[in-house]
Amino acid sequence: MTIKAFVIGHPIAHSRSPLIHGTWIAEHGIDGSYEAIDVAPAELPGFFERLRAGEFAGGNVTIPHKEAVFALCDSVDPLARTIGAVNTLVARDGKVHGTNTDYLGFLGNLDVGAPDWSSGKKPAIVLGAGGAARAILVALKSRGVPVILLNRTRSNADHLAAEIGGDVRAGELADFDAAAPSAGLVVNTTSIGMHGSRFDGFNLDLLPSDALVTDIVYAPLVTPLLADARARGLRIVDGLGMLLHQAVPGFEAWFGIRPLVTKDLRTRIQATL
Ligand code: ATR
Repeated sequence: MTIKAFVIGHPIAHSRSPLIHGTWIAEHGIDGSYEAIDVAPAELPGFFERLRAGEFAGGNVTIPHKEAVFALCDSVDPLARTIGAVNTLVARDGKVHGTNTDYLGFLGNLDVGAPDWSSGKKPAIVLGAGGAARAILVALKSRGVPVILLNRTRSNADHLAAEIGGDVRAGELADFDAAAPSAGLVVNTTSIGMHGSRFDGFNLDLLPSDALVTDIVYAPLVTPLLADARARGLRIVDGLGMLLHQAVPGFEAWFGIRPLVTKDLRTRIQATL
């Protein structure tokens, strides 16, 4: 029987997930499909009935459903609860389980791009305290990496730091230069970097020479922050790998094979940016 998976969103046309999963399905010769399905918010409960009825093995969830699906899932992974978003559904025996694979995508991307990235346990400077930052903080906490969480609105950083717990210190963007000399990693989790916008007033020269700089923005692939870091001789990892690696656990759960994030896959997706 053909194994079916999906990505649901509204709208959904922009999603690159069908290309990622379609590439893996073809690569492994699986009798399966992965389709983008436009599901309006009012149609979500009905879609879950189709899932429970066994029509699909599972799928991905994107905007605007990542929070709404909590109430519809039969069980939700505790980490997805902490992150506040479900991006992956697995249907089994008439029940739907929700998880979040974004933090695994973040870790997978760095583990491949800079394998020693967390070995020194130097603090990571995380820029931004919105939805995307939550997954990054969960990821860093799971590796025991201390965090300096800097945000435009200080109170948002304070709240998030308190919520995630562990070794997270909150501050403002203006604190970057003071934090830089001790940092091993800088992560941008804000939308700054899309459309050519950049952080002003950061002195990247204050970072240790072996520091790693990464961005969750992947269009453009080399954001102004990454370009500045590279120009200073710092190591960089772009955000496209996070998108690719977050897809791995879902594919494995639905189709039973752990797929590889190959150079060829990267090139294919990069061509669509
Ligand atoms: P997402 O869910 O994608 O993380 P979000 O929840 O809207 O998006 O969070 C956006 C983050 O980017 C926030 O940390 C926001 O800072 P504020 O808490 O001060 O709003 C940050 N951000 C967005 N635009 C910014 C800008 N122009 N300068 C600095 N920070 C910005």
